[in-house]
Amino acid sequence: TLPQKVKIVEVGPRDGLQNEKESVGAAVKIELVDRLSRAGFANIEAASFVSPKWVPQMATSTEVMAGITRRAGAMYSALTPNMQGFDAALAAKADEVVIFGSASEAFSQKNINCSIAESIARFESVAKAAKDHGLRLRGSISCAFGCPYQGEVSLDAVADVVGRMRELGCDEIDIADTIGVSTARKTQAVMLRAAREFHLDRISGHFHDTYGQALANIYASLEVGVSIFHSSVSGLGGCPYAMGATGNVATEDVLYLMQGLGIETGIDLDMVVDAGQFISQHLGRKGSSRAGNALAAK
Ligand code: HMG
Ligand code: MG
Repeated sequence: TLPQKVKIVEVGPRDGLQNEKESVGAAVKIELVDRLSRAGFANIEAASFVSPKWVPQMATSTEVMAGITRRAGAMYSALTPNMQGFDAALAAKADEVVIFGSASEAFSQKNINCSIAESIARFESVAKAAKDHGLRLRGSISCAFGCPYQGEVSLDAVADVVGRMRELGCDEIDIADTIGVSTARKTQAVMLRAAREFHLDRISGHFHDTYGQALANIYASLEVGVSIFHSSVSGLGGCPYAMGATGNVATEDVLYLMQGLGIETGIDLDMVVDAGQFISQHLGRKGSSRAGNALAAK
């Protein structure tokens, strides 16, 4: 039996916009986050406190966090690769900070300029600071299903990082298909392996849609009991350190699937469709959510 209820984490303002060629101004990001807040998300990834030399699109994160209208009960998350990022996230009043590592050694070097072991050591102080300040801590694991630089990533490599993230005190752990290469059975194998290391109800699926498999991977994850998923309004995004990777699975498509399955999300699909239209118009192109485009054309 599938879960009756799922949590959808909207990552478009971060994972989506971090990879847009055209830099989107803070005012537009604020409007986007506010529209998503009104649509009912309990968790929105709104900011990333990383080096602006590495990801210039996220340089306005402080401004964005200061400008948004926070909905009671909603959490606004920020990526924090190190203490410099944590201090900025704390000052910006993030509710949840995200340490992000990788199950692939090669990707770890390209994305955060250090080995997996070095990243875990670096995250220790961030994790401790998060606990000290009462912030929620999430751990994200890139390339859990394959890597653009090294190819195969073993189940043991994923399990090892899940275990380390658990030891760091993560409240939630994201299993990410950075380059969208997984398929349904493989997805179930990885999720079940991760669930041997961490609570299944606090594991999330973060699927990019490069090979058109993201919705199938979500359904496959539901079948093994995963109940938290990340998605991006209008299918925005990609990853600056994974060439050719497309955006996250589109939020509208995920909501349409959940609606059809009778699974509760607490989110208003029509309002998300409007938010998708808003950001697509701003970017001057058609959004990549199939359900979003179909519903907008009605
Ligand atoms: P580094 O160069 O090794 O760091 O970068 P450093 O400590 O040597 O510092 C170098 C410079 O960066 C210094 O500035 C620091 O002040 C600055 P300088 O003295 O040269 O002027 N710096 C910072 N500035 C602002 N905020 C900070 C910060 N830290 C250092 N927090 C670092 C290491 C991790 C900082 C760098 O590699 C980096 O910023 N990487 C970001 C990569 C990134 O954001 N990738 C995309 C997000 S991850 C993702 O999308 C995957 C995910 O969606 C899941 C999935 O799909 O797989 C989550
Ligand atoms: Mg991602």
